[in-house]
Amino acid sequence: MDLGLSGRTYVVTGGSSGIGKALVAMLVDEGACVATCARNVDRLAAETARIAETAADRLLTLGCDVRSGEDTEEFIAAVAERFGGIDGLVSNAGESRMKPFADTTWEDWHDELELKFASVLNPLTAALAHLRRSDAAAVVNVNAILARQPETRLVATSAARAGVLNLSKNLATELAADGIRVNSVCLGLIDSGQWRRRYEAAGPAGSFEAWSAAVAADRGVPLGRFGTPIEVAYVITSLLSPLASFVTGSSLDVGGGVGRCV
Ligand SMILES: NC(=O)c1ccc[n+]([C@@H]2O[C@H](COP(=O)([O-])OP(=O)(O)OC[C@H]3O[C@@H](n4cnc5c(N)ncnc54)[C@H](OP(=O)(O)O)[C@@H]3O)[C@@H](O)[C@H]2O)c1
Repeated sequence: MDLGLSGRTYVVTGGSSGIGKALVAMLVDEGACVATCARNVDRLAAETARIAETAADRLLTLGCDVRSGEDTEEFIAAVAERFGGIDGLVSNAGESRMKPFADTTWEDWHDELELKFASVLNPLTAALAHLRRSDAAAVVNVNAILARQPETRLVATSAARAGVLNLSKNLATELAADGIRVNSVCLGLIDSGQWRRRYEAAGPAGSFEAWSAAVAADRGVPLGRFGTPIEVAYVITSLLSPLASFVTGSSLDVGGGVGRCV
């Protein structure tokens, strides 16, 4: 099936690892031009080197911290200059903060709320004029099931995620008049850089597969395992596709069936 992505331009923040990296590769495979960013430019270049070998003319990688409005404006301006426009934006860059309320300082709250909101608002603000000119503009905000099902071990992240889910719904309504669709993917446990770091920090704990299966069992994941970045990338790619032209304001869970809400 032709998803209609070929020749279009997509921005994916956080493309050097995990979900962002898988998504960049998938969009390039679909014939799209893709721009991605991360803070560590050396790692970004190394992790996208294989794509650059075959599709250098359709890939742009730049250093950018999405917390910074100025950085993000420069990044988006460079994308528009290189590819002539922007059809889609995936706000993916980020990480979570494992702390219960008693250990969460005001600084943690500020940091977490700033990251979660800035990582959506800065790229969208910078790309808005370009998205308005596209005939099939789509935004996907990468969120977490935590947005609707808070966990005490991630108290600030859960609250920030809920706020961003609420924001996404409002953006979908307001930007519909401009022909811009806005959707969210709410993730459960996905095998990515974040979880590999937690596995290493846990000390000698057997294989990652055994360790992650135990975490999945502890969290009650019906499919009994972590998801993969490619499984998430498929869902995001389908939401970006012009074929999903009547889907906006929605949020799709990618969590192996985990969920207390119906
Ligand atoms: N994996 C999960 O289980 C899970 C669950 C729920 C939600 N999520 C969300 O899914 C998204 C992708 O995470 P992942 O699991 O794929 O993590 P990951 O493997 O750690 O990748 C995160 C990516 O984002 C970049 N990044 C982080 N902070 C950034 C910043 N301020 N500015 C620009 N780039 C930044 C990282 O590169 P640099 O460090 O070089 O900047 C990296 O490329 C995140 O928003 C995460 O919170 C993941």
